[in-house]
Amino acid sequence: MKLKTAVIGYGHLGKWHAQKAEAFPEQAELKYIVEKFPAGQEAAAKAHPDVKIVDDISKCIDDIDAAFVVTPTSFHYEIVEYLLKHNKHVFCEKPITETTEQALKLQTLLKSHPVVLQVGHSERFHQAWERKEEYKHFFDAPAHITLRRVAPFKGRATDVDVVQDLMIHDLDLLVFLFDETPVSVEAMGFKMRTNHYDYVTANFKFKSGNRATITVGRNQTKEVRELEISNHAGTLLVDLMRNEISEALGKEPGPQYVNTGTYEKRDHLLLEHKNFYNSIQNKKDPIISIEDGLTAVRLIDKVLESARKNIEVIL
Ligand SMILES: NC(=O)c1ccc[n+]([C@@H]2O[C@H](COP(=O)([O-])OP(=O)(O)OC[C@H]3O[C@@H](n4cnc5c(N)ncnc54)[C@H](O)[C@@H]3O)[C@@H](O)[C@H]2O)c1
Repeated sequence: MKLKTAVIGYGHLGKWHAQKAEAFPEQAELKYIVEKFPAGQEAAAKAHPDVKIVDDISKCIDDIDAAFVVTPTSFHYEIVEYLLKHNKHVFCEKPITETTEQALKLQTLLKSHPVVLQVGHSERFHQAWERKEEYKHFFDAPAHITLRRVAPFKGRATDVDVVQDLMIHDLDLLVFLFDETPVSVEAMGFKMRTNHYDYVTANFKFKSGNRATITVGRNQTKEVRELEISNHAGTLLVDLMRNEISEALGKEPGPQYVNTGTYEKRDHLLLEHKNFYNSIQNKKDPIISIEDGLTAVRLIDKVLESARKNIEVIL
């Protein structure tokens, strides 16, 4: 059965989701774009002349099977709740909700409305993570993990802290990539361009003694997205912007050398759509579930608590 879909929110990312929603004509048909404001409605109508443009989800709810929620994060909860109550499959951009409490409510609601709810943690789709085995000497014994994601100010996502906007990707990766979950966090945050934190550094401790530092900023000079793992073997650097993996291996005796190679660049959004339809049609669990979304939102809450109270918070 071909799914009838809607994209909700036609902004920066919504326009890409609308494009991907038309990329699987055998499985799904993009029937509606739901956009609240005239500028977005006009842009949507121009780019998608065959799609109906409406200003509220209630105007198409009875004519869709699934929806992509790409509104600002502060609207996610009410829209996803509405969709679940109407038994619609949902793909929701990250973060699933603004608070842990809201995510828990959606988790409960999902139990009585057995549809697919997939969360948009798109950084999981880097091909580099499928090569973990090749680099197990780092992933299995990380003494220190550094995740850094900074960018110049773009004026987007200013309804939330940089933690919900950017750090969420790295919090999700930290849990997804490493076997250990952190036991505590100590964070500091700065409000520079908005009323929310624009720059945050969070230090995580693990039971084993390993440490991780995540730094995010949206007021910086250039765009950097990278993961670095250092241990007795040397250092591994995954450049998520350039799709490069560099390895600095310590040689005994002799100088250190660095090997750099590329990894396959993928269309993460397209893969998210493909997996979403696959779960719905084959009645399979989503690749990124409400539990994954909830874990990331819980970690966000703890990072923010630590930054606001200026204390170390136990996880
Ligand atoms: N996965 C990623 O890498 C990634 C990247 C960017 C953004 N995001 C997420 O995507 C979401 C949207 O971000 P964005 O940068 O596209 O925001 P944006 O502000 O550019 O776009 C949001 C759009 O939603 C519309 N909107 C607001 N409320 C609405 C409602 N109730 N019904 C219909 N439309 C409504 C706005 O008018 C706007 O056009 C955020 O949750 C963000 O965290 C994820």
